[in-house]
Order: sequence, then C-alpha cells, then structure tokens
Amino acid sequence: MVWTGSVLLLAMTSLLFLESVQCSTEADDIDGTTYSLQCPPDCRDTTYYVYGTGTYTSDSSICRAAIHDGRVTDAGGVVTVVVTAGLDSYQGSTQNGITSTAWVSWDPAFYFVASPTPTPTNSVSQACGGSLDQTTGNITSPNWPGLYEPFDSCEWLITAPAEGYITLNFISFNLTGSNFGGDGCQLTDTVTVYEGNGTDGDVIATLCAARPPSVMLRSSGRHMFVTFRAKRVGRYPGFFAVYNAVSLPADCGYALGLENRQIEDAQMSASSQLPNYEAWKARLNGGIAWQFDVSSDSEPWLQVNLTTNHYVSGVQTQGRWGGWLTSYMIKYSTDGLTWSAFGDGMVFPANSDGVNITQHILDPPILTTSVRIYPLTWNGNVPRLRMELLGCTG
Ligand SMILES: *[C@@H]1O[C@H](CO)[C@@H](O)[C@H](O)[C@H]1NC(C)=O
Ligand SMILES: *[C@@H]1O[C@H](CO)[C@@H](O)[C@H](O)[C@H]1NC(C)=O
Ligand SMILES: *[C@@H]1O[C@H](CO)[C@@H](O)[C@H](O)[C@H]1NC(C)=O
Ligand SMILES: *[C@@H]1O[C@H](CO)[C@@H](O)[C@H](O)[C@H]1NC(C)=O
Ligand SMILES: *[C@@H]1O[C@H](CO)[C@@H](O)[C@H](O)[C@H]1NC(C)=O
Repeated sequence: MVWTGSVLLLAMTSLLFLESVQCSTEADDIDGTTYSLQCPPDCRDTTYYVYGTGTYTSDSSICRAAIHDGRVTDAGGVVTVVVTAGLDSYQGSTQNGITSTAWVSWDPAFYFVASPTPTPTNSVSQACGGSLDQTTGNITSPNWPGLYEPFDSCEWLITAPAEGYITLNFISFNLTGSNFGGDGCQLTDTVTVYEGNGTDGDVIATLCAARPPSVMLRSSGRHMFVTFRAKRVGRYPGFFAVYNAVSLPADCGYALGLENRQIEDAQMSASSQLPNYEAWKARLNGGIAWQFDVSSDSEPWLQVNLTTNHYVSGVQTQGRWGGWLTSYMIKYSTDGLTWSAFGDGMVFPANSDGVNITQHILDPPILTTSVRIYPLTWNGNVPRLRMELLGCTG
C-alpha cells in the first residue's frame, strides 16, 4: 500500500472525504471496485509506468493514467476509477503529453469515469437519519435494499421512552464487500455507534466493509447515536438494523427462582457435570452443588434457561465445602445459538470459601431468555457452584 497518509478534506463545492494517493499508486494498491481518489500535482514527469489506452493494466500508475486519459491535468485532482476484467492486449499511445506502453494479457484492468458531484458531508441528507423514540424500529442506509449513493451521510438519535437502554442488531451489513479499511475502518465507508446523544459520546462500535458486529450492540443509557458516512465512491447495499428501546420496570431485583425451585431442574444444564453434582444442583443454599469435570472440560459453563424474556439484574454465587469458583464471566442469549458476553467479557470475582455469597449487580440489566455462567478460575480442583439470578420478568 502506498498512502501519503490520511483522509483529505477537500474544498470542492462542499466538504468531501477522499483518499489521497501518490503518483506511484497503482490500482493494485487499492482494494475496491469503484472509488474516487485525490491525485497530487506533478505526476506527468515521473517515471511511473502506464500500460494501455482508455483501459489500463492494474499495475499502472493511476494518477499518470488519469492525465493520459484526459481526466486531470498535471495539477492533479479528483479521479474516479472502476476496476474491471483484464484484456488480452493493451494499446500504447501518446496523449496529453504522456506515452503509455502496449502490453499483453493482464488481469485486472481499470478505466476512469466522471467523478460524481458530492453532497455535503456536513449536512444530513433528507433520505435518512432522524430522531427515533419508538420502542422498536429499524434504521437502514439510504435506498436499502438498493445501493446507497456516494457521499451519503446520515445520523440517528435513538431514545428510550423511559429509564433503560437501546439495543441495536444488524440483520444485514455490506458497506464495501471487502476488508478495506482495516481494523480501524479508516478511509472507508463507516457506521459508527455512540453512547449518548451525539458524536461526543464513547464509541460503542465502528463498523465497515462486510463485517457486521458479532454481537448485539447496546447503549448503557437511554440514548444511542448512530452515524453512516459513505466516504468512497463505491455503491453498496449498506445495512438494515433493528433497534429496541428497553425500559426497565421499577423494582427489578428479586430472586428469579433457583433457590426456591421456581426454576425447574430441566431449565438447568451444563457443559459437563460429575455424578451427583449435576447442573440442576447449582441452587443457592442447596445441599449439594454443580461441579464440572476439570479433567476434560476446557470451556465449562452452566446454563439457566428462563424460557421467557427476563431482565437479569444481578448474580449471586456460592461455593460448597471443598471448592468454589474464584471468577467467572456471563453470557446470554435469546435464541440459544448466539451468545453475547456481558460487558465485553467482564470478569466477575467470585468466592473465597464454600459458604459465603458473593453478589454482583448487572447494570444495565440483561434482557434475555438464557444465561450462562462461564467459570474462569476456581479453588484447587474442585470447582463447585451454587447460585441465584436476580431480576424480573421482561
Ligand atoms: C422498518 O421501519 C419502517 C418504518 O418504520 C416500517 O415501515 C417497516 O415495516 C420496517 N421494516 C421491517 C422489515 O421491520
Ligand atoms: C457486498 O455487496 C457487493 C455489491 O453488491 C457484492 O458484490 C458483494 O458480494 C457483497 N458482499 C457480501 C459479503 O455480501
Ligand atoms: C445531550 O446530552 C448532554 C449530556 O447528557 C446534555 O447536556 C445535552 O443537553 C444533550 N443535548 C441534546 C441536544 O439533547
Ligand atoms: C429454553 O427452553 C425453551 C422451552 O423449553 C426451549 O424452547 C428453548 O429452546 C430453550 N433454550 C435454550 C437456549 O436451550
Ligand atoms: C463469611 O461470612 C461470615 C459471616 O458473615 C463472616 O464472618 C466471614 O468473615 C466471611 N468470610 C469471608 C472469607 O469473607
């Protein structure tokens, strides 16, 4: 990759984000099928090669080819490239002071098209964005499931009607169909999800390419702010996401029924269990406990299936004489297939004896049907767990 560095803010008819490249940059250096670039001045006199006329080999200098094709002068400027299937042969010619070379079969190739007129990125287009305060709904890129337009820009503020939080689940996500942008999603089309009511809040996720988040996103408070910025010229399907505003019932912290057996034995299961230490014995203050098989179970978990939606607002753990957990993490699922880690895999300290109860409050509560406790560390070789879930019905 040959980048001069960062995103350029260009004064054209309005502000427009573009990638800045060098005279040496070849189409092979750039991932994407259609994109606009800012060519620097003084590419005419460089020695970078250009192969072809009208259609150029992918190892040709983009900016020199652009002068050859009459798209820009030696002063540089914005060019728009379309990558295409290669040709069996390429014609050489002299145009606009540049001599290109003939070449044999080469794949892929590129050609130029007129650059689009940008819409300002500092104003939100009418087609998208807005202030949403329904308890559920969806947000999509403009024109979804059709392709969005270059330089589309949208902002949504999602607000829960009462104290609570927002969840956002991406059902469909394809911003460029490639890995372009790297882990940080620089220099490419992005969806950014923030805590709070604007871009000043903490970033919950920055998304790009065809990489939807692996878990449902959630805010910690009543507001979530989402931006969509199409910085490249490519047109892609974009995204469809469903949000839910979760409002918490008052007084949501009673025992959900492990100790008092309202939760039945069949609702409890585990990755493994020793004889006489079955999953269903993991009940707070119960006579026995759950114990997994340390010798063979490398990723132990205990699952409680609440069968209907519940808010889980706290967890109490307890060991049993001879052994206890010293730390765990929590995962939850509404379908039993996709499990999300609470707090991004937050580690909860557990017990230091077989008797006392350790309690942790989950803030904000999880709205879920199933919960799993994943033991991470334990005392000796005897990981025993008794527990209770706190919360309320959802
Ligand atoms: C998405 O939201 C729009 C407007 O609120 C609604 O008309 C449409 O039915 C929703 N689509 C889906 C698939 O939920
Ligand atoms: C993303 O969309 C592009 C353009 O429609 C398509 O070519 C590509 O296959 C899609 N990628 C994925 C992963 O769906
Ligand atoms: C956004 O949130 C901040 C902090 O909670 C608040 O001070 C500000 O008034 C809010 N702005 C809007 C436009 O609601
Ligand atoms: C939870 O129990 C319900 C009802 O028995 C069942 O349909 C569902 O598949 C269970 N979920 C999981 C994650 O096991
Ligand atoms: C366990 O609880 C008892 C009674 O509350 C207390 O005296 C004791 O110090 C606790 N043990 C630990 C290790 O915290």
